[in-house]
Amino acid sequence: MIKIAIMGYGVVGGGVAYLCREKRESLERKSGLSFSVKYILDQKAFPGDPWADRIVTDPDSIFEDPEVSLVVETMGGITAAYEYTKRALLAKKHVVTSNKELVSHHGKELLDLAYRQGVYYRYEAAVGGGIPLLVTLREALAANDILRLDGILNGTCNYILTKLSYEDMRFDEALTQAQRLGYAERNPEADVEGLDAGRKLAILASMVSGEWVHPEKIHIEGISHIDREDAEVAASLGKELKLVSMLRTKKSGDKTQYGLLVAPVLIDSEHNLSIAQGVYNAVQITADPVEDILLYGPGAGALPTASAVLGDMIEVCNHEWTEERGEQWTDLKEDRLIAYGDQEVRALIRIKSGLSSGDLSSHLRDLGGFELLESPLEGEELILTTNPKLREGRLESAISELPEEYFIRVLRLLD
Ligand code: HSE
Repeated sequence: MIKIAIMGYGVVGGGVAYLCREKRESLERKSGLSFSVKYILDQKAFPGDPWADRIVTDPDSIFEDPEVSLVVETMGGITAAYEYTKRALLAKKHVVTSNKELVSHHGKELLDLAYRQGVYYRYEAAVGGGIPLLVTLREALAANDILRLDGILNGTCNYILTKLSYEDMRFDEALTQAQRLGYAERNPEADVEGLDAGRKLAILASMVSGEWVHPEKIHIEGISHIDREDAEVAASLGKELKLVSMLRTKKSGDKTQYGLLVAPVLIDSEHNLSIAQGVYNAVQITADPVEDILLYGPGAGALPTASAVLGDMIEVCNHEWTEERGEQWTDLKEDRLIAYGDQEVRALIRIKSGLSSGDLSSHLRDLGGFELLESPLEGEELILTTNPKLREGRLESAISELPEEYFIRVLRLLD
């Protein structure tokens, strides 16, 4: 019997406690392990809860109890979660977390500490909710070079974009629904401004490169400026809007660089990633030699995320700690990332009607070419796509030449 503690009895922590209780028999049958929740750390009381008697408010009861060998951190946020995770590791307890903010901001230090202490720090549930994504990258695809990765990694944004596209809903209404369903972060700005998707991409990039990529190194755009007209334009072109976390690997000689970007992009309605609707996530990985892999599943919610936590718990307990298995990230090398301005892009630009074609061509000369498309909002606006691909920096400078009152929006096209 493995005694565990759960720190944070919210949506995911509650899901972990539920699975430990409800799936006890099948867990034992399949993995040979059984988990007993000895403590649940939370500052709130939970009268009537089946495990109300295990709630503690003092974290020391966990760290000082030699019977507890594994701690689940589902507190979210950084401050207390960071301190308690360090203390749990210092007390030589394995830590399994769903906290992407903490892993992306302090992952290197926490992995180093876990390694020094001879325990594991695992974070499958931090990226892609219930999708077994990190274990796939770490183990199943270990013999591959990851060439590119495109991920729909924020369930809240995908839920909102799906509602804008298919139910003609307003942004605020869709966000309220996502919050009510328990998908959104405590501060939903982290979802709609793309920070959550950026943190997840930072974790993936750190795993892929083996070097710690802080989220601040990534150019991140969210969806709070997107409206129904964008979804309408997308649909008129047979496309859909998705918030995509993108990783591109560029090799020249011995040098490997990564291009990282989070942005709302237009994807073909037939594209593999369009399988992800509502809160679902999907990740397409292109790797050598395996080629394309598509992973799909629920990216948020109590039980899917708790399922990933349980997967990590089983993995940690099934493996004796060995030096070979202790994951570590080194410092990021200076030119490892391709600067945002140098990343290549194709884009669709929405512009208010009124400029003559001569003016348009002269303002947008820097694009190096574009194609005018028919807009569903004809008479009100023009839409054009850049052709050929160009650098982000050049796109930005071309757009800055447009009179401000005519510019509506740039949306990238998934290449
Ligand atoms: N707020 C996150 C999302 C939760 O919507 O995807 C899962 O990480």
